[in-house]
Amino acid sequence: MKDTELALGVLNDPVFNTGRSPFFGDLLPTRSAQVVLGREVRQALRAYEPAFRVRMEDAVARLPVASPWPVTGPDLVFRAAADLLLHPDAAPPLRRLMHRAVHGGVLVRQPRVWQRARAEVVRAGLVKATLAHVRERRRETGPRRPRDLLDTVLLACPDDRTDRAVADLYRLIHQSVVRNVGYALAWSLLLACLHAPGGASRPWPWPTDRLVREAARYRPMVWMVGRRVPRPLDYGGIRFPAGTILSVSPYLLHHDERRWTGPRVFDPDRWSRPDACGPYLPFSAGPFACAAAAVAHSMVGTAVDRIGEGARLSVPPSAVHPVVTDAAVPRPFVLHRTTAVLHRTTAS
Ligand code: HEM
Repeated sequence: MKDTELALGVLNDPVFNTGRSPFFGDLLPTRSAQVVLGREVRQALRAYEPAFRVRMEDAVARLPVASPWPVTGPDLVFRAAADLLLHPDAAPPLRRLMHRAVHGGVLVRQPRVWQRARAEVVRAGLVKATLAHVRERRRETGPRRPRDLLDTVLLACPDDRTDRAVADLYRLIHQSVVRNVGYALAWSLLLACLHAPGGASRPWPWPTDRLVREAARYRPMVWMVGRRVPRPLDYGGIRFPAGTILSVSPYLLHHDERRWTGPRVFDPDRWSRPDACGPYLPFSAGPFACAAAAVAHSMVGTAVDRIGEGARLSVPPSAVHPVVTDAAVPRPFVLHRTTAVLHRTTAS
């Protein structure tokens, strides 16, 4: 849906936004159960932020000078968040599978048939192992204090949910962390490297917050969200039968010439000029918007800063049109990262 006002109406109007949100679908019985789970995972992420910072620093220290992106984005986020996703004493084989999944094409729908077939094999193993571990956790007795996001999901979930539903909820949350934060990181770095005058390093030519914000405007990873029409109705002068899905594209809304000044230009400094900005919805909008938007934004900023700290970053000229499937992710590119020490060695 291209008309900005109508699109915003789809995301905000109670007629399309009552009952349970499409993100969780029917995995939870009520909207209030969805809200509780969203709140609990947000709080768990917030509490983990200091550890995320430290672990990201460790993960970045192991980056080779030339790293393959965008997959290194989710890889780094997985390494930095691994103990939050699954506590260190829990199921090492599952943790290894989760890591393998990052590289096995499971996080986003692959554009080619053979890639999808390969990803399906990895996904099947992951689903089976996650389910087995959920069963094991549910049999545990003793004090109920969340040790990781799986415990958070289990504790927030009504007891009548099946093991399968719990496993699916956990995979949704896992994916939100690893995929969404990871690919948002990849976009921020790619765009910073392509647009920073004289090459990129920290301090960036822009405050990190503006860089990350503008990258998510220019290339929102979630490029489409949908709302179901609950009953036959007229909207925007068109009659829709019940069950129609109205799709709203954050990408199109972020590039609306009538609402943004120069939307085709990547310009982090626009965020210091509120009149240059229009409706911003990388995290969607309205009652079903992302439950962890602020903390997710801050995690991307943390990762961007740790990677740029004391290093010079560059990418060869690269295309910035996304690969679009169920998410909009950057095309493969190589990030060159040389630290100050390496620089001096190279220069002498
Ligand atoms: C940069 C990273 C992220 C992006 C771009 C993002 C984007 C989104 C979007 C667009 C939606 C709404 C979909 C719709 O309107 O139908 C959403 C929902 C949601 N996201 Fe995120 N997300 C991110 C990270 C996270 C993280 C890290 C978590 C928590 C682990 C999270 C948890 C949720 C939840 C729980 C919902 C459902 C909200 C509800 O239905 O009440 N997201 N996200």
